[in-house]
Amino acid sequence: MKHLDIIKKIPKAELHLHIEGTFEPELLFEIATRNKIPLRFKSVEELREAYNFHNLQSFLDIYYEGANVLIEERDFYDLTMAYLKRCREDNVVHTEIFFDPQTHTSRGILFETCLNGIHKALKDAQEEWGITSHLIMCFLRHLSEDEAFKTLNEALPFKDKILAVGLDSSEVGHPPSKFERVFKRAQAEGFLTVAHAGEEGPAEYIWEALDLLSIKRIDHGVRAIEDDKLMERIIQEKIPLTVCPLSNIKLCVFKQMADHNLKKLLSRGVMVTINSDDPAYFGGYAGQNYLEAALALELDEEEIKTLAMNSFAASFLSEEIKNHWIQEINKW
Ligand code: HPA
Ligand code: ZN
Repeated sequence: MKHLDIIKKIPKAELHLHIEGTFEPELLFEIATRNKIPLRFKSVEELREAYNFHNLQSFLDIYYEGANVLIEERDFYDLTMAYLKRCREDNVVHTEIFFDPQTHTSRGILFETCLNGIHKALKDAQEEWGITSHLIMCFLRHLSEDEAFKTLNEALPFKDKILAVGLDSSEVGHPPSKFERVFKRAQAEGFLTVAHAGEEGPAEYIWEALDLLSIKRIDHGVRAIEDDKLMERIIQEKIPLTVCPLSNIKLCVFKQMADHNLKKLLSRGVMVTINSDDPAYFGGYAGQNYLEAALALELDEEEIKTLAMNSFAASFLSEEIKNHWIQEINKW
């Protein structure tokens, strides 16, 4: 399978990555120790053994628990820097990162402690390695509209550091319509919008995200395939899906990688991208997601190149920079 060699080397953008989901157990233990926060797990191995999920909620419970040890600006810096080092290894040259401020402000951590730590790491990685990035602030959809408005207001002084807003956490029972007014206000303030939809939730939630939240791309969106009219729309309007193959297997959205609909979506003309979601919890970073999808679905070299080109085409980079990277990929 010689064509798989290109996966590591080809330039890629990552568009669906939760920074709190890059928290590797080793770093989690290190930060817990220095912040003197007791953990219910005795070792790195014991923590890793708990990463057996049967749905989204079973993952979220442990993901929020892990984030509890992040206290100081330095903690957020170290977390982000560790992820950016992995980007370098996988030749991810551009990344659009989600962060969940409510996970931290609800514990008494200041909004700017979290934002500044992440942002400083992004700046250093750009200066040292040329990795470019954008930040996307997510609202936790299991919390109220009021709480989302409060978080949006906290973000207003930092518009220069946050490009877009998104919607994550427990999907079923918390449809996009719950946040229609928050997203309208965010747009009026100049933020771009994205939303998780159609991961566990029905295709109806994708319609709502498109029609009520005016989103620029759909995070996950794999359940779009259940609705022909919706498929027609996302193909015609070239609405990207930020698909996360390993995440979908770990959270039992598909039973095994060979059952994943990524190749089907791609062949029907959907603008599909490959991303890692929460790599520390789901067993691999961007490169590993490309590799495991390519092996199980028998993706050929052209399909791998298309996925990498889509990752730039679907990004929030300028047209000029998108074209630069797409031309680079074309040389392969
Ligand atoms: N879905 C919803 N919320 C999340 C996810 C996800 O895959 N990862 C982190 N928060
Ligand atoms: Zn996600």
